[in-house]
Amino acid sequence: MSNPAILSLTDVGRSFGAIKAVSGVSLDLFERRIYALIGPNGAGKTTLLNIISGYIGRDSGNIRLRGQLIDDWPASRRVHQGMARSFQIAQLFSHMTAMENVMCGFHLHVDQSLLSVLLGLRSFAAEERSLRDRARQLLEMVGVGDYAEEPAGLLPFGLQRRLEVARALATQPSLLLLDEPCAGLSGPETAEFGRLLQRLAGEGMCVLVIEHDMPFVLEVADEVVVLDAGEIIARGTPDAIRNDPCVIEAYLGELEHGAA
Ligand SMILES: Nc1ncnc2c1ncn2[C@@H]1O[C@H](COP(=O)(O)OP(=O)(O)OP(=O)(O)O)[C@@H](O)[C@H]1O
Ligand SMILES: [Mg+2]
Repeated sequence: MSNPAILSLTDVGRSFGAIKAVSGVSLDLFERRIYALIGPNGAGKTTLLNIISGYIGRDSGNIRLRGQLIDDWPASRRVHQGMARSFQIAQLFSHMTAMENVMCGFHLHVDQSLLSVLLGLRSFAAEERSLRDRARQLLEMVGVGDYAEEPAGLLPFGLQRRLEVARALATQPSLLLLDEPCAGLSGPETAEFGRLLQRLAGEGMCVLVIEHDMPFVLEVADEVVVLDAGEIIARGTPDAIRNDPCVIEAYLGELEHGAA
C-alpha cells in the first residue's frame, strides 16, 4: 500500500453496562487530513476518542497505528508514537503556568541527562531557553501568548482548551485528537483556530476533531464522520454530509432547534 492509514479502527465497540456507547466502528484516517467527528450528545464521540488514545479499553475490535496493532498499548506509549489529545474538560496542571504546561509536553523529546540538570551546565541553560522560545511560539499559535505566566487553572475555559492544544502540539504528534476545542471561543477565534488546524494538516498532521460548531466543521473538515447511538451513520465531504437526510434527521435538525 503506497499511503497506509495512520490510524485504522476495525469493528471497535465499547459498552457501559447496557449502554452500547460505541458499536461496530470501522474507520481509516490518513495524514494531511482533518476529520470532524460529529453527532448528538451521548452519541459516543468522547468514548471513541478515549478508546483511540488508550484512556479506556475497548470490548471488541482492533486499533492499528500505521499498520501496527496497538490494542494493548497504554496511553503513554501511544503518545510516544505520535498521538496527542485534548479533553472536553481541560486536564491541565492548574497550579503551573501556561508556559510550564506546554513545556511538560516537550519532555518526550528533550535530551537532558540528570547530571546536566544538577550541575546547571550551560548546555542545559541553552536548551531550556530554546524550549521556552518554542513554548512561547506554541502559546502564540493558539492565541494564549499573553497568558504565558498565568497559572493555567485561572484561565477562562476557552483559553484552557487552547492551552491543552498547545501542550499536545509540544509532543510533536502526527495524529492530533481534539474534543470540542472551540467550545467557548468567539466566531473570529474559532475561524483562527480552524486556520491553525488547516496549517497543521498542510504540514502533514492528521487531525480528528470532535466539534458541535457546524460552520467550523463544514469549513475546516476534509471529511465528516457522523456518529449516532455509538454507530457511524454517515461519512463524507462536508457538502455530502450537509445534504444527507439521515444526518439531518439524527443531528442537524436537532441543532437547528437547539443552541448551536
Ligand atoms: N464512564 C462511563 N460510565 C458509564 N457510561 C458512560 C461512561 N462514559 C460514557 N458513558 C455513556 O456512553 C454514552 C456515550 O457518551 P460520550 O461521552 O462518549 O458521548 P459524546 O458523544 O461525547 O456526548 P457529548 O456530545 O455530550 O460530549 C452516553 O450514554 C454516556 O452516558
Ligand atoms: Mg463528549
